[in-house]
Amino acid sequence: MAKSKEIFICQNCGAASPKWQGQCPACAEWNTLAAEAQRSGRPGDKGVRGARSRPTSSLAAESIDAPARIGTGFVELDRVLGGGLVAGSVTLLGGDPGIGKSTLMLQAAAALTAAGTVLYATGEESLQQVALRGRRLGIGDAAARLIAETCVEEIVAAASTVCARILIVDSIQTMYSERVESAPGAVAQLRECAAVLVRHAKTSGTAVLLVGHVTKDGQIAGPRVLEHMVDTVLYFESDTGSRFRVLRSVKNRFGAANEIGVFAMAEIGLREVTNPSAIFLSRHAQAVSGSVITVLREGTRSLLIEVQVLADHNAGGNPRRVAVGIDGNRLTMLLAVAHRHGGLELGGQDVFANVVGGVRIADTAADLAFVLAARSSLRDAPVPASLIAFGELGLAGEIRPVPFGEERLREAAKHGFTTAVVPQANVPKRPPEGMLVRGVTRLDQALDAP
Ligand code: TYD
Ligand code: MG
Repeated sequence: MAKSKEIFICQNCGAASPKWQGQCPACAEWNTLAAEAQRSGRPGDKGVRGARSRPTSSLAAESIDAPARIGTGFVELDRVLGGGLVAGSVTLLGGDPGIGKSTLMLQAAAALTAAGTVLYATGEESLQQVALRGRRLGIGDAAARLIAETCVEEIVAAASTVCARILIVDSIQTMYSERVESAPGAVAQLRECAAVLVRHAKTSGTAVLLVGHVTKDGQIAGPRVLEHMVDTVLYFESDTGSRFRVLRSVKNRFGAANEIGVFAMAEIGLREVTNPSAIFLSRHAQAVSGSVITVLREGTRSLLIEVQVLADHNAGGNPRRVAVGIDGNRLTMLLAVAHRHGGLELGGQDVFANVVGGVRIADTAADLAFVLAARSSLRDAPVPASLIAFGELGLAGEIRPVPFGEERLREAAKHGFTTAVVPQANVPKRPPEGMLVRGVTRLDQALDAP
């Protein structure tokens, strides 16, 4: 007989503790420990006595054929997955409520039926609601099987009955396992449900997709505790009010992490955006001051992005530094380097930096563009609209090379840019046709360039 035992689980990080404490010893959050009864023993657990020694394998003996990929009907989703779904893999799709996770899964489900039986388990909507949405999306006649169920054991049984090759669970927060007594959504439930589904994926070869909601405060407490259990973690992100959605892989055992796919939410579901540079680039009829185009690298893809800086005279008090889309500390650092090594007098100025299109920049290659934009705004001198700039800025005012210089230049040339200011080491032997590439090693040189 399984025995009930009370343990305390942190609802933020998932750490377990034998007694209640006000502060989680693992993540130091306050008041996050909740009592959860957990029965000991796992299904199929034989205990030490019952365990049999299993034959072992070796690195050389295992077959290492590339896993077969199952197309999802979306080139963008396939790319983020590393070429398509892998049989027996578990993928977690996280994102804010209402961002379009169910829509993406339903549209993918329709396409995936070409590869085998798809079971879509919904714990949030009724079968009618899902069917209605399917009809609206124009995939009402797809052969995907539906089940409205919140018990994972039932879902696994149903998946086995219909021999599902692909199982979609929407969402993991609504699921419960019979073996855990806490409420759905609690960390112990999340982990147990995920564990049951992971076991099913690994033993049956079913590709499992889990949908997970991000919690209100933007912390991904729920899905985050599952990240280590699954093979692939994708997050669906968007700027508030924007119809564009960016799907990003933050972990992928079968492909590159940090790959992105871009979608647009339309009247009839999600559409792929195959040329994202075009949407993030707002072309001005004339060059405007404070705006510079740079080239980001996201996974295997180069993306043209416009960065803007507004420097405005500060009437009194501390000058303000406002950063949208770039880390505030990085902006402050760039402005300090621009002052010290580029002679930009930004001390008495309020500085506002923005990345167009709601994109968040983590790539240091955008450094140079921010400084050029700051100078352009300060001097009210527009940078030519045909110019792009990228390069990392060091504290000594040096411009450091960035990876994938040639690919970035090619993307810019493809979109009609004719001048590039880049780190000297990124200047290719043969620049793209029709493009003048200027290599710079120091900030003062770069500021002379445009
Ligand atoms: P949904 O997939 O239900 O989000 P999630 O599962 O991530 O919570 O998406 C719901 C939103 O998408 C809703 O606000 C309406 C919008 N939407 C469209 O604009 N067009 C469509 O065709 C569909 C199905 C949804
Ligand atoms: Mg949903």
